[in-house]
This record gives sequence, structure tokens and C-alpha cells, in this order.
Amino acid sequence: MAKNKSNVTIHMVSSLDGFIAKKDGSVSWMQSTDNYEPGITLTQEYIEEYVSKIDCYVMGSHTYEHALKLGWPYGETPVIVLTSRALTSDKKSVQFYAGDLNQLVKDQLKSSYQNIWMVGGAILTKEFIRLNLADELIISILPIILGDGTLFFDYIGQEQRLHLKDVTAYKDGMVELTYEILKE
Ligand SMILES: NC(=O)c1ccc[n+]([C@@H]2O[C@H](COP(=O)([O-])OP(=O)(O)OC[C@H]3O[C@@H](n4cnc5c(N)ncnc54)[C@H](OP(=O)(O)O)[C@@H]3O)[C@@H](O)[C@H]2O)c1
Repeated sequence: MAKNKSNVTIHMVSSLDGFIAKKDGSVSWMQSTDNYEPGITLTQEYIEEYVSKIDCYVMGSHTYEHALKLGWPYGETPVIVLTSRALTSDKKSVQFYAGDLNQLVKDQLKSSYQNIWMVGGAILTKEFIRLNLADELIISILPIILGDGTLFFDYIGQEQRLHLKDVTAYKDGMVELTYEILKE
């Protein structure tokens, strides 16, 4: 159906020093109290409109388990969770997958979904970049230095050229950088 138009986006929120999570797992750092006057206001309507364009989420099992604890933010949108464990879910929208990521993304997801979002964490980001599975990378940088935690880019071990497509600044001081991942 949408085979040729599928787009795989890696998206995560990061501190300025590149961390996506604190060691203790607390998330209060994600609520910015900064005020950048010219920025865009993140209203509920804006967020709903933004996420309504996402057809499918992909995530690692640690991210999935963290999302369950915090409160499920993905609604009824299909979610593929990578795990080698025998996890189960009472959510109809959740599917578990173990194995070849190339096969999952290229053979299964791209033939079913147009706008595929890989939303973390660091282990899965490393695999997606190494295997060249993503077309786009969005990093939402919050105005904070965490100093320690889980890195967004944890020694991927290879160079990857990018093209800056868009920059959006929000009123709460968050800056969103959108890159095309160049295929060379
Ligand atoms: N700031 C943000 O926007 C953001 C976004 C997402 C996550 N996070 C944070 O990041 C942390 C989690 O990240 P993480 O890097 O530790 O873990 P992760 O990437 O969420 O999950 C890693 C796990 O995914 C499974 N996995 C990965 N590749 C697989 C494959 N090919 N086949 C089968 N299973 C596979 C394995 O699970 P099993 O061990 O179950 O086999 C692996 O241990 C959490 O603290 C979360 O809150 C932050």
C-alpha cells in the first residue's frame, strides 16, 4: 500500500549534554519551566495533531516497561516492542518481536505503515543507526544539563552524515532538531 512512502523516524527527548534518562529513572527534568518568548506554545491540541500523524511506534523493552510505569502515552496506535523475553500485554495495540530488525522494519512495518516512529531507548537507537534503518532523526533538546545517565548516542562506533531539515524552538525552551539520515 504505502510501501514506497514509508518513513522511519528516530525520536527522543534529550538533555543538552545528550542524556535521555537519569540513573534513578526520574522524569521531572522533562518538565521545563524555562520561558523562551518567541517560541511555539506546546498546547494539548498541538501535541494531539502532531502524534496523530504517527502510524506505528517501535521501542525497546526497557522503554516499554518505563512507559507502562509512567502511564501509557501511545493510545491505541500500534506499538512493536523488541524483546527476547516472553513478555505479554493486555493491550491489543502491543506486539512483541524478537530477531532480525532488518526483516521487521523492511519486510513487515514498511509494507503496513507510512509513518513509523522508533522512540527509544539508547540500545535500539544504536541498532537502528548501525543497520541504517531510519530515514529521519528528531532530537528534542531540553534546557538542562543532567551530568549523568543514559546517553542518546552511546558510542555507535560509526560515522553517520546528516542533513539538517528543520529547527523549531518552543516557549518552554525546548529546541527540536530534525535531520535526514543520509544514505551513502
Ligand atoms: N528521553 C526520551 O525521549 C526517552 C525515550 C525512550 C526511552 N528513554 C529512557 O531510556 C531508557 C531505556 O533505554 P535502554 O537503552 O536502556 O533500552 P531500550 O532500547 O528501551 O531497550 C533495550 C532492550 O530492547 C530489547 N531489544 C533490543 N534489540 C532487540 C532485538 N533485535 N531483538 C529482541 N530484543 C531486542 C532487549 O530487551 P530484552 O532484554 O527484553 O531482550 C534490550 O535489552 C529508559 O530509562 C527510558 O525511560 C528515554
